[in-house]
Amino acid sequence: MKLLLFVLFIKVISADIPRVDPGYDCAYCQPEQYIESQKIFFIEFLVYHVGSTYGWSEKFSFKTPPNGENWIVRAAIYGDMGNKNAHSLSYLQDEAQRGHFDVVLHVGDFAYDMDTDDARVGDEFMRQIQPLAAGLPYMTCPGNHESKYNFSNYRNRFSMPGSHGSLFYSFDLGPVHFVSLSTEVYYFLQYGLKMLVNQYEWLRRDLAAANTPENREKRPWIVLYGHRPMYCSNSDDIDCSVEYTRKGLPFLGMYSLEPLLREFGVDLVVWAHEHSYERTWPLYDGRVYNGTEEPYRNPGAPVHIVTGSAGCQEDTNKFIPHPPAWSAFRSSDYGYTRLAAHNRTHLYLEQVDVDLKGQVIDSLWIVKDKHAPYEI
Ligand SMILES: *[C@@H]1O[C@H](CO)[C@@H](O)[C@H](O)[C@H]1NC(C)=O
Ligand SMILES: *[C@@H]1O[C@H](CO)[C@@H](O)[C@H](O)[C@H]1NC(C)=O
Ligand SMILES: *[C@@H]1O[C@H](CO)[C@@H](O)[C@H](O)[C@H]1NC(C)=O
Ligand SMILES: [Fe+2]
Repeated sequence: MKLLLFVLFIKVISADIPRVDPGYDCAYCQPEQYIESQKIFFIEFLVYHVGSTYGWSEKFSFKTPPNGENWIVRAAIYGDMGNKNAHSLSYLQDEAQRGHFDVVLHVGDFAYDMDTDDARVGDEFMRQIQPLAAGLPYMTCPGNHESKYNFSNYRNRFSMPGSHGSLFYSFDLGPVHFVSLSTEVYYFLQYGLKMLVNQYEWLRRDLAAANTPENREKRPWIVLYGHRPMYCSNSDDIDCSVEYTRKGLPFLGMYSLEPLLREFGVDLVVWAHEHSYERTWPLYDGRVYNGTEEPYRNPGAPVHIVTGSAGCQEDTNKFIPHPPAWSAFRSSDYGYTRLAAHNRTHLYLEQVDVDLKGQVIDSLWIVKDKHAPYEI
């Protein structure tokens, strides 16, 4: 924190470079940004501001991640955070500013909704997440609340890697290959089956590449996230029994995603949509595959987490009274998840309960001696 303040007060040496001429004069053109780099000791900070002919923001800065794979990646993970009733927001803003995270994963459903009131709700939401998103990679996936106008608010506000309109993509950070999916292409078929097919084919290629021996050696963890869960035990709606992404399109059973998790040895899968937290035992096709010594030590299948309780105007969701055999921990309190990928063998997860003022209510280590397709 001290370092960060120090950087902001340092005279910006290259500031007298004249402003870039944006070359246009209109109210709603793409904004410009201006970045400069500063090295303090060995840490590189990038200082930037964004704007257009209508005005420029104050300066923000961020720290570039270390090179290579051998460092601890720390993430904040949650879904379903709204403009109103965002219980976790102040915790996340504070933690982000204190430098607790390297990346944020917002697993769908933003603002409720970004298009509301001529998209002013979306604008306000972006200001709310600015303390996080201005200084960290704020990585996203689309949820059902983004579906209006063919996901255009989502696509235009978030610019994720790759060339698929931010709907699906992957990126590498430290020892982790992160994969982001749109589960919504299975539900909003009116926007075209093509996106679903494209995503499926892309995913197969992406996971196959991530799972080659040399890539797995370098970057052993594969963490996949998308909005609607493959497994949940909530009582509120039918979404825990509709399993289009897991089992494929209705009746046809095509493009089912769960077999890909097995085939390419995905380690951890993160969902949201249900406004609660739920952790599974290692799980495939409804069956539990615990590790031999301990459930999460060399697990026989992917581990699933549902973390959609960041807070929104639709309150939290309750569970059915008797949890299924695959369900290991459940909570309907507001909160968010922290992940830390320590090294090639150890990955840590914990659930922060904001109803209990930040107390950790669940934690686990996934320990793996090898990362490979599951023998199921
Ligand atoms: C929705 O947007 C996608 C691109 O993100 C495009 O491929 C698709 O054709 C659009 N669908 C409709 C119905 O406009
Ligand atoms: C998996 O491990 C957990 C915790 O030890 C246990 O409660 C559960 O019954 C195990 N499930 C199976 C199928 O072995
Ligand atoms: C990996 O991280 C865990 C947890 O911090 C630690 O106990 C273990 O010794 C580490 N392994 C290696 C090879 O550094
Ligand atoms: Fe949702």
